[in-house]
Amino acid sequence: MNAKAEFVAPPYVANMQRVDSYADIDEILRSEDFMQGSHRESGVFFDGSLLLIEGEEHMRRRQLISSLVSRSAMQYYETGALAPVIEQVMKELREKGRDKDGVVRVDLIPLIRSMLYRINALVTGVDSVDTPEKTERFRDLVDKLGVAVTVEWSTRDHDEVIREGLEIRRQLIEEFLLPSLERRRALVREFRDGKAAKETLPTDLLTMLTLHGDDRRPGDEGYVWRECALFLVASTQTTTHTLPHVIVHLTEWCRTHPADAARCTDPTFLRIAAMESLRLHQPAPTLLRIALKDVTLSSGRRIARDERVALFFVPANRETAVFGPDAAEFNLNRVAPPRLSPWGLTFGGGVHMCIGRPLVTGMFNRPDDKSGTEGTMIRILRTLYEAGAEMDPERPPRRVAASYHDAYESFPLILRKL
Ligand code: HEM
Repeated sequence: MNAKAEFVAPPYVANMQRVDSYADIDEILRSEDFMQGSHRESGVFFDGSLLLIEGEEHMRRRQLISSLVSRSAMQYYETGALAPVIEQVMKELREKGRDKDGVVRVDLIPLIRSMLYRINALVTGVDSVDTPEKTERFRDLVDKLGVAVTVEWSTRDHDEVIREGLEIRRQLIEEFLLPSLERRRALVREFRDGKAAKETLPTDLLTMLTLHGDDRRPGDEGYVWRECALFLVASTQTTTHTLPHVIVHLTEWCRTHPADAARCTDPTFLRIAAMESLRLHQPAPTLLRIALKDVTLSSGRRIARDERVALFFVPANRETAVFGPDAAEFNLNRVAPPRLSPWGLTFGGGVHMCIGRPLVTGMFNRPDDKSGTEGTMIRILRTLYEAGAEMDPERPPRRVAASYHDAYESFPLILRKL
């Protein structure tokens, strides 16, 4: 199978230089001669957020925001937010009852979103996501915002997608974000007046922005909502896009390696599977970068000043020279080359490398460094396999039709042991 030939480039990048070699992409992501080039069309939702700023400003903001994903914060999110929500969601499914043939049927896509919403609200600092109605409403708004902030990859009319996204954002601000921000402003005022200790303040994005005066930027009142949009979408859409692929690969793997089926509830085994699957599937079709000057990469590739290039992770992460002759295959016995991450370039690289990776994988700086958390992806997979998850042979998964994302919009699952 030729992974390079298989990849379809979205029309949005048709006129850009296509970079699909692992070494070139790695060099570009780490280089100071390039700046962020993604989200130009969707800038109205993300401009000025951590993902789209550069240099000193980016470094300072990243340092500030990193405390949201510290080890202790991570443990709190996983045990205090994710675990109870997973338990609740599974309980609701159990109560809903079995079909006539004695099994529970469920769609994995809304199920993952239900499991992630609370962690998402906690990290961003969104209150009142506490009743089934409000939770459903919040999930729906974040989900629709996710479509708008990735308009570049949409197969629909882009102006229409942006228009809809702006209206969704307005509703999200009015119903959830503004009341949450106002509560934090009051808490921060109490702290400043000496009436409350700093430790009593919530650890979340909105509190942090309020503490640093970024909730009201002179001349740019909307900044705070764009930073929230990044966190709301980045913390859910990515996992929703990538997790179902793990189940597809594991289903196929266990068919050819039946002895491994019993290991699907083992977090270590699931982590290896998740990493290998993340290498093969990324949450966005490409990342884009702009050259700040004429550049010649070590490979000899030339990129002109101001040129925007498209970084194609799919072929790069399947490069046989890097990951071996079976690089395009899902192989749980693969040993990642020294100094390379098992997920390849999927969490990006350089200064904009994903800040949420430890939350997803349960691993901090090195692939073999465990933080004591399982990681959201592994925890969700374990819960599903403990409930006897199998793909539904009668209802195959349906891929996302309205965008070029390598993702599913529906993924029927059978839970045999719930
Ligand atoms: C499977 C899960 C995930 C994948 C594959 C993923 C992937 C990525 C990638 C590739 C980037 C770099 C984008 C670029 O350089 O243009 C990135 C950045 C980012 N991610 Fe993730 N992400 C995931 C989960 C998360 C989660 C759970 C969070 C929330 C805490 C998060 C928050 C962010 C943020 C804030 C950035 C911007 C960092 C910066 O610019 O300094 N991500 N992510």
